[in-house]
Amino acid sequence: MLDRAYEPLQLGPITLPNRFIKAGANENMSMAGMPTRAMRMHHAELAAGGVGMTTMAYLAVEKVGRTLPDQLWLNDAVVPELRVVTDAVHDAGGKIAAQITHGGSFVTGIFVPGRLQSSVSGFNPAGLLRGNILRRAMNEDDMARMVEAFVRAAEYCVAAGFDAVEIHMGHGYLLNQFLSPMDNQREDAYGGSAENRARFPVRILAAVKEKVGDRIAVLAKINVSDGRSRGATVEDAVVTARLLEAAGADMLVLSGGRNVESGWFMFGSNMNLQAMQRVIGKWSLSGMAIAATAKSAPRVDFRELYFWEYSARIREQVAIPLAYLGGVKSADNVAQCMAAGFDAVALARALLREPNLPQKWREEPGEPSLCDNCNSCIAYIYHPAGTWCIHRPPNEIRDNQLLASSQAD
Ligand SMILES: Cc1cc2nc3c(=O)[nH]c(=O)nc-3n(C[C@H](O)[C@H](O)[C@H](O)COP(=O)(O)O)c2cc1C
Repeated sequence: MLDRAYEPLQLGPITLPNRFIKAGANENMSMAGMPTRAMRMHHAELAAGGVGMTTMAYLAVEKVGRTLPDQLWLNDAVVPELRVVTDAVHDAGGKIAAQITHGGSFVTGIFVPGRLQSSVSGFNPAGLLRGNILRRAMNEDDMARMVEAFVRAAEYCVAAGFDAVEIHMGHGYLLNQFLSPMDNQREDAYGGSAENRARFPVRILAAVKEKVGDRIAVLAKINVSDGRSRGATVEDAVVTARLLEAAGADMLVLSGGRNVESGWFMFGSNMNLQAMQRVIGKWSLSGMAIAATAKSAPRVDFRELYFWEYSARIREQVAIPLAYLGGVKSADNVAQCMAAGFDAVALARALLREPNLPQKWREEPGEPSLCDNCNSCIAYIYHPAGTWCIHRPPNEIRDNQLLASSQAD
């Protein structure tokens, strides 16, 4: 079944050259909201390495939707700069998706005046370090404005040459704050049952699909589970998946866990505390908060395909294309995903280690990934030179300068 992974995949109006997807992984390759040359090199290298579609990670749909100060957000000025990146990927033979979302009350790296928008009102633990300590429940007007923001963002993505948008509904960002009962305690039509909690995220996807769906593919990344007893379950995820399917999603990318409450579930393994403290600083407020969170996490030993049981449940319940994600480490893993009816595989850490993995597995399917799950790359989200694998040449040789489109070579 490995051969199937090298066959084209139709997603709405676009066709991927194969079924390997680089999962969104915060590059930190932007300055003052503009992509850097490192961003272009990174995604072009993945496309040249045989990835069918790479994903640029999280472009905020509006400025207050960012979580980090230099993060990309979609507006007129950034479009030509993004176009340089998408052109480089296309020249290398690949496709590129933009992961779009809004942080809601998950804003860790900047102070946002006023109360942050979310599904609920009250204390906001995720905003503690930057003083974003209060959040407020969105009302109908807020939601209508947010739908517009996502639609406008998707139109910017079309203008910038992206082939797809991936609406991020997992990991604790705004739309996940509606899906997850860990946040959502509403008593109106947007809270309570799984159907109600999915109502607003589904409405956003439907609006985006209606506006740009004839030009680019519209995907959603969802949690198969939050990995916490108070969180959304796989049964909830099945409901969400069915509703997104009915709303016209072209594919779902299946992930799990929440940045603050269950990072170990998201990565199927524990954080690398030493790497975090090396990059962030042991005695910084963030360093101490990360240490406290890491120490309270259960011990989790990595296993390949760690979301398998959850994702297989969803595969049984919907007909829509699905990308399997989570611990894909060998060509055998890829073949297993294809045999079970997944349409694509999405990988993050293994492709940070070896951007040419799809080519390597075509030539040498018996060779496993060289990624050793050290999870150092997760710490490098916060490194000024950008996210990289520590087993590869150091980031410093990467050119993390601004990408002035006029100067692009
Ligand atoms: C360095 C790093 C940064 C990440 N940043 C994001 C992100 O910005 N958005 C997102 O949806 N997932 C992010 N993830 C999670 C991955 O998309 C993926 O869900 C997770 O790494 C599991 O896949 P893997 O086993 O192939 O690494 C990140 C992962 C890594 C390693």
